Amino acid sequence: MPLSPNPTPEHSLPPGVSVRRRAIVALLAVEDGTAGSQIAVREALGTPPELAGPDRGLVTELVYATLRHQRVLDRWLAHACAHGLCGLDTEVLIALRVGACQLAYLPRVPAFAAVDATVEAAKGLVAGRAVGFVHGVLRGLARRRPEPGATLPQAGSPTSLPDWIALRSRRLAAICGLDADALHAAFDQPAPLHLHVPAGDAELVWAELAAAGVAVAELDGVAVPGVRCADGGGVFATSAFARRAVLAQDAASAAVVRWLAPAPGARTADVAAGAGVKALALAAAGARVTAIDLDGPKLADAAALARQAGHPLDATIAGDASTDLGLDREAWDAVLVDAPCSGLGTLRRRPEIRHRRRAADLPRHHALQARMLAAASDLVRPGGHLVYAVCSFAEEEGPLVVGRFLAAHPGFVRDPGGATWVRPLLDAAGDLRTHPLLAGMDAFYAARLQRSH
Ligand SMILES: C[S@@+](CC[C@H](N)C(=O)[O-])C[C@H]1O[C@@H](n2cnc3c(N)ncnc32)[C@H](O)[C@@H]1O
Repeated sequence: MPLSPNPTPEHSLPPGVSVRRRAIVALLAVEDGTAGSQIAVREALGTPPELAGPDRGLVTELVYATLRHQRVLDRWLAHACAHGLCGLDTEVLIALRVGACQLAYLPRVPAFAAVDATVEAAKGLVAGRAVGFVHGVLRGLARRRPEPGATLPQAGSPTSLPDWIALRSRRLAAICGLDADALHAAFDQPAPLHLHVPAGDAELVWAELAAAGVAVAELDGVAVPGVRCADGGGVFATSAFARRAVLAQDAASAAVVRWLAPAPGARTADVAAGAGVKALALAAAGARVTAIDLDGPKLADAAALARQAGHPLDATIAGDASTDLGLDREAWDAVLVDAPCSGLGTLRRRPEIRHRRRAADLPRHHALQARMLAAASDLVRPGGHLVYAVCSFAEEEGPLVVGRFLAAHPGFVRDPGGATWVRPLLDAAGDLRTHPLLAGMDAFYAARLQRSH
């Protein structure tokens, strides 16, 4: 079908239409795999930002909420389309999801705006004849718009976690003594913004932020050193953020670094350092950090970040950390393996993960993680510490990796350390388990090990 002639350029659209057009374009990029949600939203917002604050917020909310609730929305939509969703053009399906998402989950958006502005936004993106189809389907859904908070009619289960993820979420709930339904629901909510002051007197930085009008609050029910929860994104415009005195870092990620707790001057390897958020926090704590990653450009970012913050890294090494990289053996005081993983624990920040990952990915992750942990363990000196961490709650990527490692490496034992703040985060085995019902944290797993001989 031909596209509508001459689609109107985004900047000349009315703001309400432009918002929805940008959301649809971002979701198309996520759907075809050319971008993850974070990059797609950033590109949709434009550089320099072309939309006013509330409109920017709505683009972000539409993209994230649509991805988060996609499975439920598709079930709702399937009942509203005479021939189901199979065979629909991707552009049509995504325009329908964006419209349905507003009707289902954004009660403050009037039905006429959800329908009409979405249809206007779809013009030029969907084939000409499909515009009427999108309009008809959304008008039908608007007549059956649920009360705020009510379950969508004919959409089945209100959770949008695929079964294999829901199963692992139930296991996490059982291990941590949580209500499984509440945990599922929490994975469908946006994540809060946590701030981490990696070095120095955090109180001074909180006071500086307060003076700049940024409100921060203690975490609820847990106290990770140097971490607070922010109320809104004002922090990103502050000088404290610009000079990296404070990082936007989930409390779970900060907890992993704080748990390793290298002494000042400790020779520390950050294996799988990525773009270096944890490496910076380790260096800021006074450790001499060598960052290792397969991805050279990410390491360059890590080095630049640490330099900019005034805590330069000792070295960066690009290489495959599941192999012997020729580093000094048994010579490092502290080693962090922040292993590549499914990322299930960050579902709220990257909601597309639930659609992209498969249970069949887990054995592959497990095998790589096991090799990386074994290779990294060769670096640790007797008495030194090794933290293995993943942003996942799949047993296959966490305790099963560590359990097998310990069985094969009798020189290592679990050593959760004596810090009192970490105790509420530990499970019966002494491993760290975080989840969204605990101060809104990402769902991480970590084990802290010590080489005894
Ligand atoms: C969880 S991310 C690291 C995040 C990072 N530590 C941080 O805090 O910002 C995992 C990293 O593992 C890296 N990676 C994947 N396979 C690897 C391998 N075989 N050797 C080394 N690094 C690898 C990826 O490039 C990615 O940066």
